[in-house]
Amino acid sequence: MTVSEIVESRGNCRENLLQILHDIQDSSGDNSIHTEAIDELSRIMGITVADITGTLSFYTMFSMKPRGRHIIRLCDSPPCYIMGSENILDALQKKLGIKIDGTTPDKAFTLETSSCLGTCGVAPAMMIGDEVYGNLTADKVSKIIDSIRKSEGR
Ligand code: FES
Repeated sequence: MTVSEIVESRGNCRENLLQILHDIQDSSGDNSIHTEAIDELSRIMGITVADITGTLSFYTMFSMKPRGRHIIRLCDSPPCYIMGSENILDALQKKLGIKIDGTTPDKAFTLETSSCLGTCGVAPAMMIGDEVYGNLTADKVSKIIDSIRKSEGR
């Protein structure tokens, strides 16, 4: 979908800006919002580029940097930290061969950390896309990554 099609489908008003930005990011092909899209959005909606980029930088779910098809958000807030999120981070970094904020060479995964995901009852926890994974162990994260790769036929 183009930026103008997205704005048209959501409705051209300021209160729809976050949903419009989500849609633009989802249809970007690399899970990010490109500067060209921001320029176009600014022109179509009559909102300044500075205003849009200010909104983007406020929310961690948006990125202006190209990212993988699957965004892993590992919680590093205290309850998850106490339950071993650092070990899970190590396991993810080793399994994927990347550091925090890195993207795998095949563009499948980007690894990010996050504050509380609201699922402390199953700490340590992470999200991949919209899916929550809890009670993580190194073995469990390895199997999760393998199963996502397998589902993509890789
Ligand atoms: S502290 Fe990790 S999900 Fe709440």
